[in-house]
Amino acid sequence: MADTKEININEWEIGTKCIQAGYRPGIGEPRVLPIFQTTTYKYEDVDEVERLFSLQQSGNKYSRTGNPTLNALEAKVAALEGGVGALTAATGQAAVFIAISNIVQAGDHIVASNAIYGGTYTLLDVRLRKLGIETTFVDPEAPEEELRKAFKPNTKILFGETLGNPALGILDFDKFSKLAKEFDVPFLVDNTLATPFLCKPIKHGANVVIHSGTKYLDGHAVALGGIIVDGGNYNWANGKFPDFVNPDAQYANTSYTEKFGKAAFITKARAQYLRDYGPTLSPLNAFLINLGAETLHLRVPRHSDNALALAKFLKDNPNVNWVNYPGLEDNKNHPRIAKYFDYNGASGVLTFGLKGGRDSIKKFVASLKVAALVVHVGDARTSVLHPATSTHSQMSPEQRLAAGIPEDMIRVSVGIEDAKDLIADFDQAIRASVD
Ligand SMILES: Cc1ncc(COP(=O)(O)O)c(C=O)c1O
Repeated sequence: MADTKEININEWEIGTKCIQAGYRPGIGEPRVLPIFQTTTYKYEDVDEVERLFSLQQSGNKYSRTGNPTLNALEAKVAALEGGVGALTAATGQAAVFIAISNIVQAGDHIVASNAIYGGTYTLLDVRLRKLGIETTFVDPEAPEEELRKAFKPNTKILFGETLGNPALGILDFDKFSKLAKEFDVPFLVDNTLATPFLCKPIKHGANVVIHSGTKYLDGHAVALGGIIVDGGNYNWANGKFPDFVNPDAQYANTSYTEKFGKAAFITKARAQYLRDYGPTLSPLNAFLINLGAETLHLRVPRHSDNALALAKFLKDNPNVNWVNYPGLEDNKNHPRIAKYFDYNGASGVLTFGLKGGRDSIKKFVASLKVAALVVHVGDARTSVLHPATSTHSQMSPEQRLAAGIPEDMIRVSVGIEDAKDLIADFDQAIRASVD
């Protein structure tokens, strides 16, 4: 039996949303979100199935395009971000690809920040170029006049990351959203590292928000997953995006903007791109990411506080060239925390330059006892990585420098252990690196 109590999830604080948004059990139903391990759904009425297949009725048809466990996670993250709807995908990378594919086609152009995750950079720079979609990468800190020059008549997307991975610049939302409005293009933001606990990009002008749920949403390094959130705040019927407006012959000539209004983007992404490309999240991974998201509001402050403590320690260490953590008061991005973030912190990701070159980096990594060398961020456990030889090795040294990734950079994803133990571990490993 359905839960009939009237609730307005949008009035809840973020912690209540983390725990309770998305899944609402009826009387006698499981208190905890079940894993609906099913590919298919039962119907008794041919007309009903016909309505589902022509988008005249919403509901699950086949798990490639929808499943109750996935739907609950989608509703939770949409509530956390303040969007009108969301769509899960098998990975963050798939979410980025679906979000972009839903908007552009061969002959179109994208303007993207160059300070983004290496996988997204390659997707735009190599894969999408091969499909006839061109991207101009811009320095997100360039003045507005400079950025304006990157736009072309066929530009269809402006793309950035709230907290760039791993240069850790905080996006100048005012500048980017102003340009997106001026050129009337949708503004897509990858909010993976910041999470909706720290920042809600839709409040600052974003139209579509993307997550690798693999990172802080999951938070325990157990499940890959991606999520796209529709802000419901872009006019897709402005003449630039005919596929949103024109009848879709495969769905009984449905016009997404006419039939779904504010949810046109996310409905079209599911109906066309998730269905036809097929990178669907598994119910088990949706369950795990949902479970992780239930403690997002407890973990992100702890990640941030630990990162600040470690950053302060590293700053005073004679064997460290530099430290980049926007939570440090003298960091050039620090003022943007007060401007755009809901909490005075900057997640667990920080970077620093270790003195002594590759040999020292190797010794440092090998000496860590609490932290470990792991290709990941957002885990409860502290991880370190050398981006130039791993996540960003597909970029040229020049591209890396332009994106703020020098050779001596070590990226740390600070976990939620005790800061004292982390500082002691880094202290001994840095000492060992100079031996
Ligand atoms: C900012 C950002 N976006 C997207 C991705 C891709 O996510 P996934 O690894 O879940 O495919 C990553 C992965 O590291 C990331 O850091």
